[in-house]
Amino acid sequence: MYYEYDNNNLFWKNSNLNNLCREIENNLKSLYNYSGPYFLYHEKIIQDRLERFEKNFSESRFYYSVKSLSNINILKLIKKFKTFGLDVVSGGEIQRGLEAGFKGSEMVYAGVGKKEDEIKLGLNCNLKSFHVESISEIRQIEQVAAREGVKGPITLRLNPDIAVDTHKYIMTGVEDSKFGINALELNEAVSILRDSKHLRLMGLQIHLGSQILDTNVYMKGLDFLDKIAQEIESSLGIKIEYVSLGGGFGIDYNSVFTTDSAKEFSLSELSKQILQRKNTGRRIDFEPGRFISAHSGLLLAHVLYIKPRKDYSIAITDAGMNELIRPALYGAKHRILTLKNPSGSMNNYDIVGPICESSDFFAKKIAMSTLKEGDSIVIAHAGAYGSVMSSNYNSRPYVPEFLLDGENFSLIRKPQNIQDIYSLEII
Ligand code: LLP
Repeated sequence: MYYEYDNNNLFWKNSNLNNLCREIENNLKSLYNYSGPYFLYHEKIIQDRLERFEKNFSESRFYYSVKSLSNINILKLIKKFKTFGLDVVSGGEIQRGLEAGFKGSEMVYAGVGKKEDEIKLGLNCNLKSFHVESISEIRQIEQVAAREGVKGPITLRLNPDIAVDTHKYIMTGVEDSKFGINALELNEAVSILRDSKHLRLMGLQIHLGSQILDTNVYMKGLDFLDKIAQEIESSLGIKIEYVSLGGGFGIDYNSVFTTDSAKEFSLSELSKQILQRKNTGRRIDFEPGRFISAHSGLLLAHVLYIKPRKDYSIAITDAGMNELIRPALYGAKHRILTLKNPSGSMNNYDIVGPICESSDFFAKKIAMSTLKEGDSIVIAHAGAYGSVMSSNYNSRPYVPEFLLDGENFSLIRKPQNIQDIYSLEII
């Protein structure tokens, strides 16, 4: 993938991490008296991942899933790509998008529980479409749109009942999940749209889940969308602008080095399969998150203490599950690298955080070159659902974020301080 060792230095897509981390840490020390951990993002990797979508699907529009990595500076990078808008899931994400320079008309708004003020915000900034998930939500948008004197753009998020091979917490397109409008609700949804003066149908959408590697389930989803689109078009006498296959394109968490072959979702295979089918004239859109942001980020942590056990050691780091919850929540495995090329003696380690929970670990019983207290470690592919899922658990402040542009870096989020954490508490 994107890492390689050269002369005992770890490079991340041509950026020398040993030098960069030393400089970053000097900066953090002098400006904030802070020593780590921190997230680093790589502009060139983000660009590389965005280009892959443009290269493979020349007719599509893409909506970057803000929830996967939402720093406004990252959104600004995405803004440079004309085919990309944003997939947002809250009023807060709409505001981030606007702040980054996106227009409302470049955002689609998903989520099962949109509140009235969020709907109003979406209507007032002229969102591209509300991806709606229930009859009640359609009625709610209709009411707010009528009050505001506008027409609400609606895309039906459908529940296709298609299972995918992923962790059960991130499977979203099966019948017993809370997401999407199912076959029982569809007729009523369509008849509301037929009768309403305040709604207009833009598209149909599905999102099967996340970290999916199989292209065939998307083709199954596309057949499902086409069939329903045809029925609705002939029933309402309209043309549907787009069908969206959502996001979910999986990456290979295990592949880190440029020499590793990555078993990730094949965009080119999906593109080939799509081109082989009959053209329906409806645009096929995508909402990628992880595929763009995962490889683009790393979490840099330091070993605080080493505890010997019988036949392994425990390395306690300054980062914890409140910075990266994926191993605790989904049993996710992130590769861990040292800044120096591993050589000499090896040892087995549990790499754990400082939080008072046994689920606070990054890896169990992994072989690494012998670690010393004070060593830096890189937790790889942590750009997606890393920083954005952080919490202040144990009163630990949010950690800083940096963006690399080749050999230069900029601070894109300051370290939070303890007073920030309790500033809302009324004492
Ligand atoms: N569209 C919709 C409607 C979604 O719900 C999601 C993600 C995406 C697009 C983007 O999916 P992606 O391309 O990133 O797979 N926290 C979990 C992942 C949760 C995904 C939620 N929905 C994790 O760390 O694995």
